[in-house]
Amino acid sequence: MTTTPVIDGIHLHARLAALARVGAIDGGGCARLALTDADKDGRDLVVGWMRAQGLAVTVDAIGNVFAVRAGREDGPPVMTGSHIDTVRTGGRFDGNYGVLAGLEVCRAFDAAGLVTRHPLCVAFFTNEEGARFQPDMMGSLVHAGGLSLQEAYAATDTSGLRLGDELERIGYRGRAAPGTIRPRAFVELHIEQGPVLEEAGRTIGAVTGVQGISWHEFVVSGTAAHAGTTPMRLRHDAGYVAAAAATYVRQLTHDMGGAQVGTVGVSELRPNLINVIANHARFTVDLRNTDEALLRQAEQRTFAAIDSVAQAEGAAVERRRLARFEPVVFDAAMVAHVERVARAHGHDPMRLPSGAGHDAQMMARLCPTAMIFVPSVTGLSHNVAEYTAPADLEAGAAVLLDVLLELAQA
Ligand code: GLV
Ligand code: MN
Ligand code: MN
Ligand code: MN
Repeated sequence: MTTTPVIDGIHLHARLAALARVGAIDGGGCARLALTDADKDGRDLVVGWMRAQGLAVTVDAIGNVFAVRAGREDGPPVMTGSHIDTVRTGGRFDGNYGVLAGLEVCRAFDAAGLVTRHPLCVAFFTNEEGARFQPDMMGSLVHAGGLSLQEAYAATDTSGLRLGDELERIGYRGRAAPGTIRPRAFVELHIEQGPVLEEAGRTIGAVTGVQGISWHEFVVSGTAAHAGTTPMRLRHDAGYVAAAAATYVRQLTHDMGGAQVGTVGVSELRPNLINVIANHARFTVDLRNTDEALLRQAEQRTFAAIDSVAQAEGAAVERRRLARFEPVVFDAAMVAHVERVARAHGHDPMRLPSGAGHDAQMMARLCPTAMIFVPSVTGLSHNVAEYTAPADLEAGAAVLLDVLLELAQA
């Protein structure tokens, strides 16, 4: 006999807490950079849960993990999931929530004695964050055919370690060819990571798409010299170029209006001494916009400004692209489906674009895709203080359940 499937909130919170203990850092956050020992330990824990639930687990050659719950019919599954890698100063919900909520949906179906028409697959993708290896969303990008395995394996971290070697080292270079599982539809449940839902007093976001992302690294070469004796007019100060770039990016976002965002998140100087002019600077620029033409404009203006300040300083500058993704618009019927289910659950859902990158933006290349957001308290994320109220986590998981159920029975 089947009963109505319901999310076990207590179990979801317990698993979120257990996964947060892997790579735990001060303040309640997590450091599980992709393909580190902590990432391996987190993967092992989640894969153990998948197997204990009786799901059929496959690992592909980029380390993406797929857990399939059989349906009455074979064929393409309905897929949900996200990622379990974190930035170095990550919270406990970013990514993890979507994966563990997907497993709770499977548990709820099991408890209800429900076998869906189509299989259901819960996935976690390798290196979504891109904090150690670039580009970000790497596992889902490879899955979608947007990056070759060879290119992905060749990515190196700042210590020169190769992604392919690290994947092998932690035991997650699987046999399956990436892209083998082609879902009928993909749904990612995620915390918003921004303040919009909280400010609007809404519990559920129906995500309309993801803004475009541009990541570049700049290396400036100047001349190390004495800070006291070198006249200002004779300096080739790499540190000054990096600082001017950061100031320029902030001013540019202001000039272009609210939708353009820009961040200099990495800035390193050498020799990094109080009385030595820096001969080397490495910094990154992250630019994002929902409008591709405006994002291109922001890139061109930034590149030109950095070239010009470097030239005036007599310093050389090299630019390297780390990631570049155009804005993505999600399937209209899928967005409407999320809204409909959210309303049926008594919510007043809000349509909004995603400010953060997500695996869903890569899966949208393959199949109709949607995302469900729940509020982030004070909008904080990529911060150990990231928090979403338990009731909101449960509400999002319950909406996910019914969104998936309808897709899996269609
Ligand atoms: C990844 O989380 C990003 O949006 O930068
Ligand atoms: Mn995430
Ligand atoms: Mn993130
Ligand atoms: Mn992300």
